[in-house]
Amino acid sequence: MQIKIRLATIKDLDIILDIYNHAIKHTTAVYSYDPYSPKMMQDWFADKKANNFPVYVSTENNEVTGFVTYGTFRLRPASQHTAEHSIYVHHKHRRKGIAKALMPFIIDIARQNKVHTLIGGIDAENEVSILFHEQFGFNKVAHIKEAGFKFDRWLDLVFMQLIL
Ligand SMILES: CC(C)(COP(=O)(O)OP(=O)(O)OC[C@H]1O[C@@H](n2cnc3c(N)ncnc32)[C@H](O)[C@@H]1OP(=O)(O)O)[C@@H](O)C(=O)NCCC(=O)NCCS
Repeated sequence: MQIKIRLATIKDLDIILDIYNHAIKHTTAVYSYDPYSPKMMQDWFADKKANNFPVYVSTENNEVTGFVTYGTFRLRPASQHTAEHSIYVHHKHRRKGIAKALMPFIIDIARQNKVHTLIGGIDAENEVSILFHEQFGFNKVAHIKEAGFKFDRWLDLVFMQLIL
């Protein structure tokens, strides 16, 4: 099946919401407890647009299968050249090379937009994501112990970095 990548539109938000809420409910990839509402997702997308932060989706047969984006890492002005990205693939479409197809798009657009470094905040249990990021040259630069609490346990947070 051919994987296509394009910029997200507002029509993609329902499926992006499904993908994101699945991760919130079932994984430690997102440090949220409660699912996003459609309104929260719309606000999220509006914020991306307002800040010129890209959102790309992957599709197969015109069905959205995943997304990648970046946003603010820390709010103060001196952090303006650093961005934190996130990448999610629909649980039914994992291990088909979709994340590998999405990642080059976000790296390229980050470079074009003069982002100096991309940071991934990844739960330390998420070995799949850590291996995936290593493939793209990201290095583990921080391991913060017990930075999260979800599913009745403390979670360690790893930061992985790619200097562009
Ligand atoms: C991490 C995630 C984006 C990977 O997406 P994917 O489309 O399944 O990944 P790909 O098929 O493109 O695989 C890319 C690489 O990731 C790693 N990987 C993916 N799935 C894996 C698995 N089940 N076991 C081990 N490594 C795995 C491998 O290094 C793989 O490369 P390889 O196929 O050459 O071995 C996906 O699992 C996901 O959405 N997870 C939940 C959300 C999340 O953790 N996001 C990242 C938080 S920053």
